[in-house]
Amino acid sequence: MSPTRRSLQFKQLQKLNFQVHEAPCYIKDQEKLLFVEWGPPTGVNGSHDWHYILDLKSNNLTKVQTTPPTWNIHGCVYRDGKLHVVTDGGPDETAYLATIDPKTWERTTILNNYYERPFMSFNDLEIDNEGNYYMTDSLSGWGRDLNPYGQPTKPTLYFVNATTMRAKELWYLEGNTNGVSLSPDGSTLYMADTGASEVKPSRRNEQGERDLWAFDIPTSSKTGQRLPVLTNRRLLARSIQYFYDGVRVSRNGWIFGAGGEVVDVLDPESGEKRSQIN
Ligand SMILES: *[C@@H]1O[C@H](CO)[C@@H](O)[C@H](O)[C@H]1NC(C)=O
Ligand SMILES: *[C@@H]1O[C@H](CO)[C@@H](O)[C@H](O)[C@H]1NC(C)=O
Ligand SMILES: *[C@@H]1O[C@H](CO)[C@@H](O)[C@H](O)[C@H]1NC(C)=O
Repeated sequence: MSPTRRSLQFKQLQKLNFQVHEAPCYIKDQEKLLFVEWGPPTGVNGSHDWHYILDLKSNNLTKVQTTPPTWNIHGCVYRDGKLHVVTDGGPDETAYLATIDPKTWERTTILNNYYERPFMSFNDLEIDNEGNYYMTDSLSGWGRDLNPYGQPTKPTLYFVNATTMRAKELWYLEGNTNGVSLSPDGSTLYMADTGASEVKPSRRNEQGERDLWAFDIPTSSKTGQRLPVLTNRRLLARSIQYFYDGVRVSRNGWIFGAGGEVVDVLDPESGEKRSQIN
């Protein structure tokens, strides 16, 4: 993997009034992009249902809503013709994992509790090559008083086996969970701790966590299959500007971390910054 120097060219396609920064999901076969806008700062009463679909061929931007209506989508992965989303929940539902059909905009809820315990508010998800889910449950919705209950857990990373639909807690953080992503072969997991952005009251803590952790996902000594366990945690990088909100990995393994107003491109082994997009 040798870094190649290339200058990227950017073009602004649309100008929206508010914060456009949740759940970008490229629907390759339709050449469309789903993304979520908060609406006015922090949404309306802490909630938002401003989902847009942008046709990249015509630059046609359309606000969409699902059946039944979906609120507070914060993470999205497109796979096998479906948008797989996680939400903060609200207004009458606790946080859940769901699929959305991008042709009919029908939403199907897949999981909305952990052995009857509600999730707090999901921030992001990743799907491995077998279709299993890795989902970060964060303090953010609790900070906006979306739920009538307190904090059921610390910010937690959940695993859901797509074959058995069995869920498991994989890890928890002292700061806050946020972006999560996997290496292309699925053997390394990257997860951001964004405790530097405190949620109640909402404020920046310069001493707070802005870490990008890497973990190995081991395989069973008996079956050779991947295990729902994380090992060998290491501090791969700390965000240079604020914290890594979204984290994604390119096909050849580079880690893209969205920190503050820049995107850092990191080496997956050394965690060193190779370039910055701003
Ligand atoms: C926001 O909350 C206020 C106070 O509870 C309420 O009056 C208002 O209708 C809410 N707005 C929306 C869009 O739900
Ligand atoms: C834009 O897309 C929407 C949703 O697909 C469609 O209803 C509308 O007709 C499109 N507008 C144009 C100008 O193509
Ligand atoms: C998911 O469950 C299937 C069926 O029990 C098992 O074969 C597979 O190893 C599990 N995957 C993980 C990552 O735990």
